[in-house]
Order: sequence, then C-alpha cells, then structure tokens
Amino acid sequence: MRRLLPLILFATIVAASCIASATEPEIAATGDYQKLCGVCHLPDGKGIPGVFPPLNERLGHWANKEDGRTYLVKIVTQGMSGTIIVDRQKFSGYMPAVAMQLDPAPLAVLLNYVLLKFAPEIDVEPYTAREIERIRSIVVRNTRDLRPQASS
Ligand code: HEC
Repeated sequence: MRRLLPLILFATIVAASCIASATEPEIAATGDYQKLCGVCHLPDGKGIPGVFPPLNERLGHWANKEDGRTYLVKIVTQGMSGTIIVDRQKFSGYMPAVAMQLDPAPLAVLLNYVLLKFAPEIDVEPYTAREIERIRSIVVRNTRDLRPQASS
C-alpha cells in the first residue's frame, strides 16, 4: 500500500485536473449565475412572484431573434426598469446592471449557461465573445424598449 500511495495520489491529481478542465467554463458560469443573478431570480430561476420575474423558455425564444439577443445582453449590462408583464404577472421593478464589469467571454458563457439551464427545450445559437462585444457597442438608452413584443 505504501508503495502504491504516490501512484494513487498522482492518478487522483490527473483525474481531478481533467475534470476541472472539462467543466471549468460551466463551473465559472454556475458561480457567476449564483453571484450575479441567483440572489434575485433564485438558483432555480423561478424568481419571486410580482418581485423578480422567472427566467424560463421565453428567453430561448428571444435568443432566436436579433432584437431579443440584443435585449438579453443589454438587460444584464445596462439593467432595466419599468413595468413588464411576464406570464400574465406584472413586474414594476428595477434590475441593476449586474454584468457591467464582466468581460465579453465570461458574459457569453454566462448567458449560454442561463439559456441552457432555463430554456433547455429551445434550440439556440450560443453567444460568442465577439457578438457580445458587438452588442455592447450598440447604444440603447432604455433597455425596455428592446423587449420583444410577441412574448409573454
Ligand atoms: C437585484 C436583483 C436582480 C439581479 C441580481 C438580477 N436581476 Fe434580472 N431582473 C430583476 C428585476 C426586478 C427585473 C424586472 C425589471 C422590471 O420590472 O423592469 C429583472 C428582469 C430580468 C429579465 C427580463 C425579463 C423580461 O421578461 O423581460 C431578464 C432576462 C433577467 N432579469 C435576467 C437576469 C440575469 C441573467 C441576471 C444575472 C446576470 C439578473 N437578471 C440579475 C432583478 C434582478
């Protein structure tokens, strides 16, 4: 056993680092979600009725439209306020620009994570860092004006 110990340790380290590299972006995105979004929209994305809207499949529908993709990026980088109706419930809250400091690459990973986790049934083109950069350079004064109409 004694002679085997270094071997076991080595194998454990190799295995651990493989696991870490395979899921590193996902681990980072989970952490970013919990820290930046989960405090309000909750870890399961269900939100709080009338206070924090749920994150659900409508996000996936938006991610399949140009203005919807812009909307999702602008919400998290510029924040939003004003009344919205989600699943026939009214929300008149204020969301701060929580991801303002995030670089394009981790922000792409975070939004892709949100879409995959809360709108798994919708097939979506993943965001890339380059797309995030392009959208961030678009000047939008009121995020809410971008909210796609045909949504709940
Ligand atoms: C401090 C609380 C808070 C945090 C943190 C927060 N949000 Fe929000 N979010 C809100 C509120 C409140 C609204 C509704 C704003 C309104 O009524 O205009 C909202 C709205 C949204 C909407 C738009 C819903 C719709 O139907 O138009 C999306 C999408 C969203 N948040 C995603 C996120 C994501 C992703 C994160 C993390 C990167 C996040 N939010 C972090 C409070 C928060």
